[in-house]
Amino acid sequence: MKPPASQPYIGIKPPGPKTRALLRSTGDPIDPFPPIWGIPARNQEGPWIEDVDGNIYLDFVSGKCVANLGHRHPTVISAVKEQIDHVVLGATENRFTLAEKLADLVPGRFPKKVFFGSSGSDAVDGALKLARWSTGKPNILCVSGAYHGQTYGALSVSSTWNWMVRGFHPLPGVFHLPPPYCYRCPFKLNYPSCGLQCLRYLTETMFTTFCPPEDIAAVIIEPIFGDMGWVIPPNEYFLELKKLSETYGFLFIADEVQTAFGRTGKWLAMNHLGLVPDIVCLGKPIASGFPLSAMVAREDLTIARGLHFQQSYTLEANAPACAAALATLRVIEEERLLQNCTKLGKHLLEKLNELQKKHSTIGDVRGRGLLATIEIIKDAETREPGIQAAKTICRLALENGLYTMFMGAFETASIRIAPPLNSTPAIIDLGVGILDKALSQAEKILFRNP
Ligand SMILES: Cc1ncc(COP(=O)(O)O)c(C=O)c1O
Repeated sequence: MKPPASQPYIGIKPPGPKTRALLRSTGDPIDPFPPIWGIPARNQEGPWIEDVDGNIYLDFVSGKCVANLGHRHPTVISAVKEQIDHVVLGATENRFTLAEKLADLVPGRFPKKVFFGSSGSDAVDGALKLARWSTGKPNILCVSGAYHGQTYGALSVSSTWNWMVRGFHPLPGVFHLPPPYCYRCPFKLNYPSCGLQCLRYLTETMFTTFCPPEDIAAVIIEPIFGDMGWVIPPNEYFLELKKLSETYGFLFIADEVQTAFGRTGKWLAMNHLGLVPDIVCLGKPIASGFPLSAMVAREDLTIARGLHFQQSYTLEANAPACAAALATLRVIEEERLLQNCTKLGKHLLEKLNELQKKHSTIGDVRGRGLLATIEIIKDAETREPGIQAAKTICRLALENGLYTMFMGAFETASIRIAPPLNSTPAIIDLGVGILDKALSQAEKILFRNP
């Protein structure tokens, strides 16, 4: 990439010929582009990605909420270079320092134990195993439409799309709560007059019929429902659910794989609620792109019946990844990124609210910190989801140099907006400006506006 990029550059309509050839070589579809795993890149730097054809995009999703410091932050890269000059495989002192730091970072003034892995999915599997193992109870509660990953345990508590479970026979003993998706309330009620019917369904229907509370080991929940469509329920929902977990004696697992490390303006999204989970799953941005995850649990849960809970993976807490994680934590502090995220998050939300006034395809705007979304609809009255429109908007955004993507359970479509935490107002304005242009172009095509 000709440094330093400060504007997107589209030399050839994406996907260009080299990208197409790569995708063809592995049988990956060319349409839609980019595939779910991202853009084949030849350079990454800060908020920029250069593809193999030389196009440069503003990455408005931070590599799916992984590159929270932007791509290849110099402090992270030099920590990793320094590390691989000495140790690559297995544990270094960094593993222990990192475990201590993560235990401090996660809320709760009690001893904690950290189990490392290399993906968010394995952290979720670990949490589910620990919950069943320590309580001796069989059942897990999760939320319909949530996403927790794709290993067996994680997919069994996930339900964003049916292809994730179809034909796989997910684990038994998993019960799905109705989603607290206020914009599309499954009970067609409004908050707060609904009295949190989505939780009353748990106590009044599930507990009294197919899901007795004394058999529940844990509830697993995202503080912001990511792939469901970055759905942000009222704080009261989580606080009430936590109370229920205490009343009925099941554990509260917070899946913070996507939301931790400053994405919402606090270290953890649960910090906004003052809520103390029993187990926390961490991953994605923890090591700025190096494979690492962690499951942080109340230590007392890890000892039961005179035994210690055990879990280990060959490549867990890999030395370069731990060096990257410590550097990531340092940068978040030194560059005051929590503060920057909070400030820029407000600016971003204002901008998106302005966009909504201009574009009838935007049904809802949601956000906390630098995790924001616009939900795309076909019709403001019926709120019919606009999947085709979202596809078109993302394609046009890419053709104008902005990389974003959409997601949504229940066949809805919300466009992800998650720029790096060290963005500037100029970067936010640039990204929102391109999105504005893509929305206008898409609306012209879809509604044949003049
Ligand atoms: C909330 C949440 N949990 C777990 C996962 C799974 O993480 P990974 O893809 O690293 O296995 C994801 C990934 O998107 C996620 O968003």
